[in-house]
Amino acid sequence: MSDASPHTHPVAAGLQELLQILERERSRGHQFVTLSKESEAALQKLPLELMQRTAASSSPAAPVSPAASVSEPAGGAESSPAPVQEPRKTVSDGERTEEWAREQLNGIFREVKSCELCRSLGTLRDTIVFATGNPLADIMFVGEAPGAEEEKQRKPFVGPAGQKLTQIIGAMGLSRDDVYISNIVKFRPKKGDGRFQGSSNRKPDHTEMESCIRFIRSEIEVVQPKVIIALGATAAEGLLERGGAISGLRGQVHEFSGVPVIVTYHPSFLLRQESEPDQVKAKAMKRKVWEDMLKAMDLLGMPVTEKQRGFFL
Ligand code: URA
Repeated sequence: MSDASPHTHPVAAGLQELLQILERERSRGHQFVTLSKESEAALQKLPLELMQRTAASSSPAAPVSPAASVSEPAGGAESSPAPVQEPRKTVSDGERTEEWAREQLNGIFREVKSCELCRSLGTLRDTIVFATGNPLADIMFVGEAPGAEEEKQRKPFVGPAGQKLTQIIGAMGLSRDDVYISNIVKFRPKKGDGRFQGSSNRKPDHTEMESCIRFIRSEIEVVQPKVIIALGATAAEGLLERGGAISGLRGQVHEFSGVPVIVTYHPSFLLRQESEPDQVKAKAMKRKVWEDMLKAMDLLGMPVTEKQRGFFL
């Protein structure tokens, strides 16, 4: 029997029931289920928004931005059944459409929702902040974890650091919709028990990053960016499993899952520099970030104007 309330949309109620069936199969030790072509097509046609609402059952659906900004309070996630994880299919280049990528990313979002490991740590807050931007972008920006503003809007990089990042992307001649923006950790790290945290944030620790690393790996598999830009030492540590200062990681092209990775300073570091008395240093740091962006643009074969070459953020 479905747990749906009498006010639940019939399609949502059907989906809830389906999730329960899948959970039952999982508890019987079945990892995969076979779907008929018709059922698969019917499921794929369901609007994303409705699926999110169903899985969360009581929480309002999150806004969906151009790509995959899919996140919501995860109170419902604890009570919702964990879906059977679908294997990601290999597809030919022709099949890698935007619609396909969106569906895959929505699948990853649902995996985040049912991440028991992330929840069991007890150090991450409940709201999922997933990703935003172009699901088939050439450039993927990866940060560490959402902050207070990101949690509120359920989108990565929308607070002050996000505004700086948007400015950097703009200087590259691109918009946020052209690139894919995500974080290693999909939940805002708690301070204390999280109740009196206000707007203060902290970096995720190694265990928290480990609990989420498979998601960014899957996102990379789907988006297949031509270059990844790791924002800050924490993101670099998560992706490259290499700690240390940014100064030691910059200037080389690293690799994650076969994709070139450029490491640069986190936008919030630039913001902190901007408010320091030493503005010469602040300018030098901004120029370093910009040089990293030029490197990414060169790697992609993007045209770079003279004005862009000499630019200071
Ligand atoms: N800092 C990050 O690393 N990620 C965000 O989404 C916001 C701030």
